[in-house]
Amino acid sequence: VIVGKRVRLRPIRREDVPVLLRWMNDSELMRLWARPVPLVTEQELLRDLEGRFSRFDVAGYFMIEREDGAPIGRIDFEGLDERTRSAEVMLLIGEAESRGRGYGTDALITLLGYLFRQRNLHRVWLGVLDWNAPAIRSYEKVGFTVEGRLREDLYFDGRYHDQLVMSILRDEFEMRWPVSE
Ligand SMILES: CC(C)(COP(=O)(O)OP(=O)(O)OC[C@H]1O[C@@H](n2cnc3c(N)ncnc32)[C@H](O)[C@@H]1OP(=O)(O)O)[C@@H](O)C(=O)NCCC(=O)NCCS
Repeated sequence: VIVGKRVRLRPIRREDVPVLLRWMNDSELMRLWARPVPLVTEQELLRDLEGRFSRFDVAGYFMIEREDGAPIGRIDFEGLDERTRSAEVMLLIGEAESRGRGYGTDALITLLGYLFRQRNLHRVWLGVLDWNAPAIRSYEKVGFTVEGRLREDLYFDGRYHDQLVMSILRDEFEMRWPVSE
């Protein structure tokens, strides 16, 4: 378990499958993830529980828990590259009433602390739809910088969408979020 200021990141458990299925099949939410639904089945999630959800090697998958222990979202890292020391991250706050309250931002800062200080990464990047203003705002608060635009990179809802690539380097993270103790 990785403890943040306002959230805790913990491994995914079997009892999380129904809530994950609900989020991964919520079409409004999945638009923001640029994925059309249906996205995933229960069988696939059960296989993931035995497979990639059970390891924290080149990828890691976490539930985001609020202060009261309620699971409100998920956050992942993937493609951890040993030589370049980089990885991609992605997250969602699945419960709508928990969005816009700083939980996503804190979850991201918490995961970055782990990736930079425990896993010794150098660069962390993410992709975001160019019209997803709350997400971009949250990533800027964390310290991510827009480094490029992938034009018409994604397709759903009958049209192409641009994706912004944003990244943060370890030094930038340490400047903004120094270890307090
Ligand atoms: C994106 C997401 C993870 C951010 O987490 P969060 O806990 O909601 O984020 P925060 O509350 O810390 O910050 C959101 C910021 O966006 C701002 N915001 C909200 N609506 C906005 C809008 N329409 N335009 C611009 N900024 C907006 C909020 O004011 C807040 O900034 P502030 O703290 O300066 O006021 C979360 O909202 C989410 O999961 N959304 C749905 C799925 C998604 O988009 N995932 C990311 C895909 S890349």
